[in-house]
Amino acid sequence: MRQTSLAEGIYDLWIRTDLAAEARCGQFVAVYPKDKSTLLPRPISICETDRQEGALRLVYRVAGKGTAEFSRLKAGDSVQILGVLGNGFPVEKAKPGMNAVLLGGGIGVPPILELAKSLSCRKQIVAGYRDGNCFLREDLQRAACADLPGTEAAKGSAFWIATEDGSVGTRGNVMGAVAQNDLRPDILYACGPLPMLRAVKRYAEEKGIPAYLSLEERMACGVGACLGCVCRTVAVDAHSHVHHARICTDGPVFEAREVDI
Ligand SMILES: Cc1cc2nc3c(=O)[nH]c(=O)nc-3n(C[C@H](O)[C@H](O)[C@H](O)COP(=O)(O)OP(=O)(O)OC[C@H]3O[C@@H](n4cnc5c(N)ncnc54)[C@H](O)[C@@H]3O)c2cc1C
Ligand code: FES
Repeated sequence: MRQTSLAEGIYDLWIRTDLAAEARCGQFVAVYPKDKSTLLPRPISICETDRQEGALRLVYRVAGKGTAEFSRLKAGDSVQILGVLGNGFPVEKAKPGMNAVLLGGGIGVPPILELAKSLSCRKQIVAGYRDGNCFLREDLQRAACADLPGTEAAKGSAFWIATEDGSVGTRGNVMGAVAQNDLRPDILYACGPLPMLRAVKRYAEEKGIPAYLSLEERMACGVGACLGCVCRTVAVDAHSHVHHARICTDGPVFEAREVDI
């Protein structure tokens, strides 16, 4: 493994694992802390996969005890992971000729990188941050521009930033940048905090376009057994007859119109 710090409290961890062969964008792994007082594994999204090297990239923010322990991992250490978990982003819904707009907010930015690399249609990425610590900025720009002709004009039409303090890009959130730059998605993919996902859902409903949202919830088992991570759905589950879905196994990615958020 190797690990670097990308910004204050944000870490970039590459782990060598056979799971790299099967991991798809939008899926996650559950990482076990060694400290036995933090019993449960911590879910972290796949930011990037390197199939040739057999490695997974995880980018995470230190939130508490578990992630603080991960931040101390060094080259040569090992860590136990469970995965790959969840359903991932449905890339096949973005057909050739469509314009896919990818929205990442805060610590929801990392999975957008592997998503961008997995989509073959035209894509535009908007990344939202609190301030000028725009981690993964170069990686996202490269992924957004990978299939574009090398002109600056083309590159300028593929990647935008929004910051809450206005220090870089549009002041405000990712939806502000979508409006300001007159982006016209045929399909939306998003990962970020709940208020952002609610705004994306509203926008998609108003425009009548499909949107796929990666939801986040505190998790315990990570494999569908404990019901600790349910979200409210519009339809009733065929087996349990309730308006619930498990984010860890039925998600974390849902079509926006299927979930009540
Ligand atoms: C599917 C999924 C993918 C995720 N991907 C990433 C990722 O790529 N990068 C990343 O930095 N984080 C990600 N997270 C969040 C990450 O799992 C939590 O930050 C982590 O579990 C916190 O563990 P901890 O022991 O450090 O903190 P804890 O001590 O467990 O918690 C610290 C604080 O964070 C809150 N918290 C813990 N887990 C969550 C959660 N899931 N959602 C909201 N608040 C939470 C707690 O309520 C508490 O206030 C993801 C979560 C899910 C469910
Ligand atoms: S975390 Fe246990 S069911 Fe999802």
